[in-house]
Amino acid sequence: MGLIPYKNEEYLDWSDEANVAKMRAALKDVGGRLGKSHPAIIGGKPIETDGEIVSVNPADPSQIVGRTAAATEREADMALDVATGAFEHWSRTTPESRARILLRAAAIMKRRRFELLAWEVFEGGKPWNEADAQVAEGIDFLEYYAREMLRLKDGVEIYAIPGEESRYSYQPMGVGVIIAPWNFPTAILTGMSSAAIVTGNTIVMKPSEFTSVIGAVVAEIFEEAGLPEGVLNFLPGYGSDIGDYLVGDARTRFISFTGSMKTGLRINELAARQIENQRWVKRVIAEMGGKDAMVIDDSADLDSAAADIVKSAYGYSGQKCSAASRAILHADVYDEVLGKVLENARALKIGLPAEEDGATVNVGPVISEPQFEKVSGYVDAGKQEGDRVLGEDPGDPKNGYFVSPTIFAVEPDAKVAREEIFGPVLSVIKARDFDDALRLANDSPYGLTGGVYSKNRDHLERARREFKAGNVYFNRGITGALVGVQPFGGFGMSGTDSKAGGPDYLPLHMLARTVVERF
Ligand code: SER
Repeated sequence: MGLIPYKNEEYLDWSDEANVAKMRAALKDVGGRLGKSHPAIIGGKPIETDGEIVSVNPADPSQIVGRTAAATEREADMALDVATGAFEHWSRTTPESRARILLRAAAIMKRRRFELLAWEVFEGGKPWNEADAQVAEGIDFLEYYAREMLRLKDGVEIYAIPGEESRYSYQPMGVGVIIAPWNFPTAILTGMSSAAIVTGNTIVMKPSEFTSVIGAVVAEIFEEAGLPEGVLNFLPGYGSDIGDYLVGDARTRFISFTGSMKTGLRINELAARQIENQRWVKRVIAEMGGKDAMVIDDSADLDSAAADIVKSAYGYSGQKCSAASRAILHADVYDEVLGKVLENARALKIGLPAEEDGATVNVGPVISEPQFEKVSGYVDAGKQEGDRVLGEDPGDPKNGYFVSPTIFAVEPDAKVAREEIFGPVLSVIKARDFDDALRLANDSPYGLTGGVYSKNRDHLERARREFKAGNVYFNRGITGALVGVQPFGGFGMSGTDSKAGGPDYLPLHMLARTVVERF
């Protein structure tokens, strides 16, 4: 199959008035379509459920973005049944034909880009640039995994002994349950689903209950791209109603999950249990949380370091597992860096992303009332534990789930400096020297992203070897991993080190097979 070489989708330039005008038009168009109901789609058929999920705009919770089905075990059972049936056919289709569906889905996403951005703004509360980076990432996953499948379709080279031929290749696994997060509702849902599908598996796709409408749009795009019925079964529902059922069922072959550490560990435990009729060890691909640190050495470019701390801490209100939630500053530059961080953070504009001037908003709301309560709880805890050098008490959630960028100067053992908050809260910690800084950075059960700002080559080389994180970045920000360029996934309690957007990702969704013939 002839394809142009892979290249990351470029981000939109919001200083270009034409893009701003298109975005305003998309917000108007999507704004006029809010409130609709979206059924589950099982075997290509719309399925209504007794209950429903009501999805609201986190910047204005009185605005209903849409309603979706809320699946129960009954619909989960139907979806697993249909996916099991569809696997017979789909697993026998050629890798090329599967890759074509992804390429077509990418083309549709490019065509519907502004509409997708608008859904992100309304349902995710995303500032435009964050929404854009995310939709671009969704497109990248489709383009990249299509090419990856073509690379792997005939297996990989191995050795043989004289007189024999050895072949090492991959085959589809079975039914995958995709449990996706709300923070990257287009990108991660698309990435996890497309990887499972292009490798010949069928899926039950469960979006987060907070972003189910975007889930419906992503499912619709796969359908429009020509995916046969039953390959992707769209099953919106509450995790508490159907999560355990889907993970525990004997028909499930693998679970691909992105979300909290707590849920990830529960999935791992449930998946490990053998139940009647189960004929395989279920595979769990999990990307969980983080408590990511940026270390600023005394030799660093302090202006860049401060700007990147702020971008990494407050992009999408800190609701990224990659977000900087600890800034560990060398004692000799502590005051200067903190001063510059404060200056940058004070310049952030907090606002309503769906407004006409949304292009200028840097920080929107957090996703939901439970998340607002959780982050507010950490703000209270931080005030007891340390010095709040930036931020105000959160207001009334009825006016939107807004939490202002917050900074605590704390000791390393403070709760806010140890637990994942998933909000715009940064802990700033003083380190005696670089050794101390690296030790503090590594003193966490998580190990997702991390960064070092330094001009000291020895320190960088040490961090290259010793920083315990799956994604380590030097002299730059630590979020926004690019598909195919910065494969993404963590160590420790951050997950199974599955590297989304990397060369090892697709094989996680397949069975490797060795066949040897003696002549
Ligand atoms: N991949 C995203 C990032 O790097 C997080 O999921 O920010």
